Amino acid sequence: MKNFTSIKDVALLDTLLEEAKTIKKNPYGFKSFGENKTLGLLFFNPSLRTRLSMQKAAQNLGMHVMVMNLQTDGWTIELEDGTVMNQSSQEHIREAAAVISQYCDIIGIRTFPSLKNKEEDYQERVLSKFMTYASVPIVSLESATLHPLQSFADVITIDEHKTKATPKVVLSWAPHPKALPQAVANSFVQWMKHAAVDLHIVNPEGFDLSPEFTAGITVMHDQDEVLKDADFVYAKNWSSYQHYGQIATGKGDWMITAKKMQLTNNGKFMHCLPVRRNVVVSDAVLDSNNSLVIAQANNRTYAAQAVLLNLLKNEG
Ligand code: CP
Repeated sequence: MKNFTSIKDVALLDTLLEEAKTIKKNPYGFKSFGENKTLGLLFFNPSLRTRLSMQKAAQNLGMHVMVMNLQTDGWTIELEDGTVMNQSSQEHIREAAAVISQYCDIIGIRTFPSLKNKEEDYQERVLSKFMTYASVPIVSLESATLHPLQSFADVITIDEHKTKATPKVVLSWAPHPKALPQAVANSFVQWMKHAAVDLHIVNPEGFDLSPEFTAGITVMHDQDEVLKDADFVYAKNWSSYQHYGQIATGKGDWMITAKKMQLTNNGKFMHCLPVRRNVVVSDAVLDSNNSLVIAQANNRTYAAQAVLLNLLKNEG
């Protein structure tokens, strides 16, 4: 593994999954790999789980960690080449990425999409420029279009809680008052395609994810129908890909409720968090014994640790 920005950086998911399970049983057993190594975490956007689980994962591996909120504490970064920088941008990505590489052995970056310009967002400009100009491995802490560390934690969680070889997993769109990225959903689909699951996607008309991700899966629009016999229900809001960045109105009945969960096969509820209670999911579901949201959050540490360990081993 040279970088970790999508499932495409993973040679074999089963192997990485086994490594994460081994680490979870013995989190402090690999401390020598991170000795005298530094992880830099750069945040253009807010975070609770990613920020803390990455720090914990790095510390478990014996690494030092530096965290910077680039949006508030750094210089305004210029991405374009050839720009006359006489406006608001103060530091070019070429220098920023090269300089951070002098201090860090691995760099993690969180950079959300604008949700205004689909082409630019789906080009992953910030992440790809960092990969071009940094001289150390790059880890996505959620990019414009993908959230691979979350998806890996979700794979671990499903593996731990499944009661059959190929469980039915439903990714269901859920309501939200603000425009959210498609990243978690895109990434979940990518990873589930490599996992031993029967994946179904259900969302309102006009909210289909990019065909790049949904290819080979029939996207449905009748939530009750798709929830029938589900073993896992993964709820997530995303803004429209087709009508880029638009939110849905009048779709409150897509909230995951106890009544909807009764359609499932005693299904487990999943969400990446943070979640808006009684908008995305009802209190009754979130607080039920079938809710896996805390288990998912816990597995973020072991997902991150497995990824960091692979990158450290590769560095030699
Ligand atoms: N699920 C997740 O990535 O949470 P944070 O945005 O709090 O990091």
